[in-house]
Amino acid sequence: MKFHMPSKLYFGSGEIKNLGSIITEDLKAKNPVLVTDAGIARSGLLEKVLPQLPGIQVFDQIEANPKSDTINRIAEEMRSLAPDLVIGLGGGSPLDAGKALALLCTNGGRIEAYEGREKYSQAPLPFLAIPTTCGTGSEVTWVSVITDVNRKFKMSIKGPKMYPAVSIVDPDLIRTLPPSIIASTGLDALTHAVEAYLSKPATLITDTQAVKAVDLILGSIEGAYTDIKNNRQDRENLMFGSTMAGFAFGNSDVTAVHCISESIGALYDIPHGIANSVFLPPVLSYNLPACREKMAGLARLSGIREIDDTAASEAFIEMIKNLSTRLSIPRFKDLGITKDKFDQIAAMSFENNSTPSNPRPMVKQDYLNILENAYGQ
Ligand SMILES: [Fe+2]
Repeated sequence: MKFHMPSKLYFGSGEIKNLGSIITEDLKAKNPVLVTDAGIARSGLLEKVLPQLPGIQVFDQIEANPKSDTINRIAEEMRSLAPDLVIGLGGGSPLDAGKALALLCTNGGRIEAYEGREKYSQAPLPFLAIPTTCGTGSEVTWVSVITDVNRKFKMSIKGPKMYPAVSIVDPDLIRTLPPSIIASTGLDALTHAVEAYLSKPATLITDTQAVKAVDLILGSIEGAYTDIKNNRQDRENLMFGSTMAGFAFGNSDVTAVHCISESIGALYDIPHGIANSVFLPPVLSYNLPACREKMAGLARLSGIREIDDTAASEAFIEMIKNLSTRLSIPRFKDLGITKDKFDQIAAMSFENNSTPSNPRPMVKQDYLNILENAYGQ
């Protein structure tokens, strides 16, 4: 068994105030650059951090499901500035983009050349992650997911030197997050925790973190969704849950839910968390026979009192469906995905590196069945 988590984590409300000193004293950086998206730039969050970063060059063109063309274009400009630190501020997209750019600054070339594990020859620049949503987990993982626009495929670029050097997780940064983003990113975090727990590579350490993450997320997501501004405890618990889920899946794996949502994300600009929310219940139903005891354990943790493991697991799946409905997550058929794409989505999902981690074996037809059943609900 191996557990790897080399990032230094600062967690706490108001922690962002220490950004300047973390950059100069912890990271000894003199020429950092910052990667974010236009939404963060508009939201006022960027203004909150800029006074601590005098003269910093900001790259705010990262889109949802970041694209290889965008990354390659920004990398050329970024290299000319000779930075010594990349800061990522935002949800999963700016954080994943920041990791990819830190790699390209020291290795050259285009991001497509680094798909896979440890394809870099030089260590990437140090990366400082500042999440502003409650779901990505990217602040504590070694992977960057970038869409190859030519192949319409989500590439995983990863390696032990791609962990953020430092992460600042400040729950106050999600204080103004709109309810729809709390719902989608919070359910992404729940999916990370549940999949990490049920995945084949799960260990005692990842199980401990995943179970606590499920408990924290289920206990806080609705309070945060309803009134995040005034719910400090729920903000903190949701962020703790999200980061702990990141520890867990980063050291075990995700399963078929993410295989499907990553395939959909490569073809459509559907938020990652929405796709996960839609496919978590049907994939759990498929996996139930292979992980009945563990799933029933999650059910009991969530307050379900059924004694029979199958009944408890089914009640857990139903509870997640009802939670998604209360959080206004759309149904699969409302996402604008046409049935003629199911075959391609199923094929891409089967090819995903995480398919072998699913607790129940899956072939392409199983993915196709899940897509068709989910569409009918
Ligand atoms: Fe995810």
